[in-house]
Amino acid sequence: MTAVKLDKIGLWSEIKLDILRRYATEYSKIMAGQKTKIPAFRHWYIDGFAGAGSHISRETGEEVLGSPRIALGVEPPFDAYYFVEMDHGRADLLRGLDGINGRTVKVEEDDCNTVLRRLLPEIQYRRYRRALCVLDPYNLNPDWDIVKMAGQLGTVEIFLNFMVMDLKMNVHLGDPKRVAVSDVERMNRFWGDESWRDVGYAPDPQMNFFDEPGVLKHEATVLVDAYRRRLRDVAGFKYVPEPIPMKNSTGAEIYYLFFASPNATANKIVEDVLGRYRHDPAPDRVKAKRTRGPHG
Ligand SMILES: C[S@@+](CC[C@H](N)C(=O)[O-])C[C@H]1O[C@@H](n2cnc3c(N)ncnc32)[C@H](O)[C@@H]1O
Repeated sequence: MTAVKLDKIGLWSEIKLDILRRYATEYSKIMAGQKTKIPAFRHWYIDGFAGAGSHISRETGEEVLGSPRIALGVEPPFDAYYFVEMDHGRADLLRGLDGINGRTVKVEEDDCNTVLRRLLPEIQYRRYRRALCVLDPYNLNPDWDIVKMAGQLGTVEIFLNFMVMDLKMNVHLGDPKRVAVSDVERMNRFWGDESWRDVGYAPDPQMNFFDEPGVLKHEATVLVDAYRRRLRDVAGFKYVPEPIPMKNSTGAEIYYLFFASPNATANKIVEDVLGRYRHDPAPDRVKAKRTRGPHG
């Protein structure tokens, strides 16, 4: 068997994982409390782009727990764990997590969008089901219909990475005519329609060299803000706090970490968790946490 290559991650990814661990712990406590009142109540953890389960810290070279293993360590446990991963070697590693801490793991080796189209409709309010769904892709994904379905169910909370670096490098170019058809198509799937073009560009009052009307490109953050409004107004999530920009070691923004929820309590908790990283020098926090150990 060939060894599976683990991702090397920087401090901001460690921050994302810390946010997830803190939030998932609070979420699971609250959901488990519901079960004491309504025995049929169930809460699931769904990782749509699960990864290998571990990473290597760029800074220290040490192993860092990935989101699936963080979720498996949360107390009290979730009632079900779904890990979706397209890469065969990584999916195999995830299958190896089955039974950890007595937890049953279901691994779906497939495309996240295909799996969630089938899985999300099972999370019905009247069946007392709830889920925390983590959507952490490498590029502009998942498809909008998945996100909208999650919002309309009223039972699902999501963490979602809006991959702004992919947007800037491949889709939101100064000259929209230069964007490859395949990139336009995947942006349309991510956005749900073509309205991102009207958001991302404005007509240029100056005629261009050929006496044709040109276009002016807005900042990419205009699209990020519009996506936030879509999560609320089109998908129907009641609460969508301001996302946090996540950067690489040179300070360039890679993605915006979004949270969206139907629930006021969840929103309050996530605002507390995100608040730790909105104003503080985040990397110092991760370093401080390391000195206290992984769960300090
Ligand atoms: C950023 S990594 C996930 C990291 C993980 N969430 C964590 O924090 O530990 C993205 C993963 O998604 C997988 N992937 C990419 N496209 C996918 C798709 N369409 N469906 C499911 N998995 C996909 C990649 O193989 C990769 O392992």
